[in-house]
Amino acid sequence: MSDLLTLLEVGAPVAALGGGGAYLRAKHPAAFWCTAGLPISTARLLGTYGSTMESCGLTVQPSRLRALLVQAATRREVRPVPPRRGLIRPTSTGMRVRLRLAPGQEPADVAASAERLRHAWGVHAVYVSEVKPGVVELRLVGFDVLRKVRMPRKTEAGFLKVPVALREDATAYVRDYRTIPHQLTLGATLSGKSMFLRHLVAGLAPQPVALVGIDCKRGVELAPFAPRLSALATDPGQAADLLPVLVRLMEDRYDLIKARQGIAPGTPDEEIASDIWGLPESERPVPVVIVVDEVAELGKGATMLRAQLTGRVCHRVNDEASAKMALGDIAPEAVVAACGIAPERPGLAVAGDNSGGWSRIRTPYLSLADAAAACAASAHLVPDVPALDRFRPVVPAGPTNPPFSLVKPLPVTG
Ligand SMILES: Nc1ncnc2c1ncn2[C@@H]1O[C@H](COP(=O)(O)OP(=O)(O)OP(=O)(O)O)[C@@H](O)[C@H]1O
Ligand SMILES: [Mg+2]
Repeated sequence: MSDLLTLLEVGAPVAALGGGGAYLRAKHPAAFWCTAGLPISTARLLGTYGSTMESCGLTVQPSRLRALLVQAATRREVRPVPPRRGLIRPTSTGMRVRLRLAPGQEPADVAASAERLRHAWGVHAVYVSEVKPGVVELRLVGFDVLRKVRMPRKTEAGFLKVPVALREDATAYVRDYRTIPHQLTLGATLSGKSMFLRHLVAGLAPQPVALVGIDCKRGVELAPFAPRLSALATDPGQAADLLPVLVRLMEDRYDLIKARQGIAPGTPDEEIASDIWGLPESERPVPVVIVVDEVAELGKGATMLRAQLTGRVCHRVNDEASAKMALGDIAPEAVVAACGIAPERPGLAVAGDNSGGWSRIRTPYLSLADAAAACAASAHLVPDVPALDRFRPVVPAGPTNPPFSLVKPLPVTG
């Protein structure tokens, strides 16, 4: 009987703790990571570092001097040496640790073992990146960060840079218009394309840029952003009027750059401009960012432009051919990853660029009302671009203070 009581006394709290842990892990993985996952994985990493590296083939034979010293001092068998490990730096989603590779090792050797390291240390994923020659950083991610997206607090935001989504390694995916001016975002119906666009518009709204929208679905997605747009086309006819004006604007800018290049001989190299960023700030025209929701609505062959579009984002697709169209010339693995996106996860996508790199990303949820509010709040930032004036959308008067009071005044008595 007393044994049974002891069992209950000890067993019940342990079972409750285990159940609580499993619940926390399933429902609140970030909280589970901070309270239990991080200490457990850190202990596993510290306790098994040498043996894990050895079983992954990431150790090297010790130098002859080291072997002699170890044998003389301890008389023990000399073990192969793992890469020198830096301090473990915990984060809210995982941890980071740097390794110094031995001569002859390369980052790809460590990357090839990422899956084995993940199992050995009980984490969701391990990513490897080269920090500098001979040094790699292991980014251990404790849980699936794309299930419930929370953007990192510190992101690389800036002029013409918008942190739109989260990468699976818990870093921000930043849409940088200066390095990649053109991008194609593709996906099946309800896969999250417009949400991606919503983030771009809301992120650019407080910046000194002109925003132009083409949304041939009668403006259902972009019309709510009208207060911040310099131009909006909501059907193919309007788009056909607007596009030549944009082309002329671009040609005027080429002329401006050319005029600058034609200045007096002897001008120092750094003053010769080949794009608008080379112009002095006082002469530089405001950048124009054009967003098109549903490029297919503009007409046949528009998607053939993809070779020009360095940035590629592919949401869930219904057939492999679509994924191949977006990512086929980037990496075959990226096509496979895009085909595996589940419909229950709208906003999940594969982002690639023409350097062959790709990653899974997911936008956080942003309601249309919040994005529209961000645009309304920065309506005063719409820059002066006279060529676009006739395309400026008419903003319906909002429900601001009514001109007269609807409350019947009561006579003041006294
Ligand atoms: N990251 C996300 N998190 C949660 N819900 C999302 C996310 N992205 C999109 N959704 C939801 O999924 C649905 C479809 O999104 P969206 O309208 O962006 O898709 P779409 O690809 O533009 O569809 P369509 O082809 O019909 O235009 C919307 O209800 C949206 O709120
Ligand atoms: Mg859409």
